[in-house]
Amino acid sequence: MINIIIDDKEISAVDGQTVLQVAKANNIKISHLCFHPALKPSGSCKLCGVEVVSPTGRHVVMLSCILKVKEGLVVKTDSELVKEKRIKAFNRLLNMAPDSVRIRNLAREFNVPVIPPPNGCIRCRLCIRVCNEIVGAGALKMVKTDHGNQVMAVPGRCIGCGTCANLCPTNIIKVVDQDNVRTVSTKSGIIGQLALERCEGCGKMYASTNFLKHVTEATTLHPDTREHHKLCPTCIRLMSNRALTEKDRIKK
Ligand code: SF4
Ligand code: FES
Repeated sequence: MINIIIDDKEISAVDGQTVLQVAKANNIKISHLCFHPALKPSGSCKLCGVEVVSPTGRHVVMLSCILKVKEGLVVKTDSELVKEKRIKAFNRLLNMAPDSVRIRNLAREFNVPVIPPPNGCIRCRLCIRVCNEIVGAGALKMVKTDHGNQVMAVPGRCIGCGTCANLCPTNIIKVVDQDNVRTVSTKSGIIGQLALERCEGCGKMYASTNFLKHVTEATTLHPDTREHHKLCPTCIRLMSNRALTEKDRIKK
């Protein structure tokens, strides 16, 4: 038997055991991922660091899945030095596997603040610019958060036109029509939810009430606008083609 101290507790271990094995046998929590009892340790994930004092008296962090017990070994599993290395190790893994729920849950278990998963936005502001400069709805803004700048909705401003989604180079803005409602959203949340109107030609739900109202208001004073209609793009195309054919027929 070998006696070691983990977090000020005296513990008996068997020669040849690793610190991680002893900790596990004694219900002492050390984060780890690449350790497997049936395999030789590889020290790959670097999550299992513990603080020990080196023969030269320096406080160093060593991987507990590799570190073998020896008489009088003193180990700290949650010192400031360990925490610092653990945060680095978790963030290194999350850079490689940002969507790993297992790594995120493990990080949470050890109170490790980690980088949030990327939401696909490259902060080009095309969605915000087009919504302000062309559509004129002003439904999006860039907001500074603890995790960097994020595109956010200005509540009540989205008219459900979908122009932002058409322009977004990474396709992260989604427009979904369901049960007569259009939802515009990103992974971070809903931008707008709008009731849809029926096309007077084919009866298909095709545009939001707010969008049609916006178009009507924006074009009322335009000299070329004679009347407003409620027709979907397909019906408009059909009608235009029909009108042109009729014109040609009359000419002949
Ligand atoms: S949501 Fe899309 S368009 Fe808007 S800033 Fe991000 S990447 Fe650009
Ligand atoms: S468990 Fe992965 S390095 Fe120790």
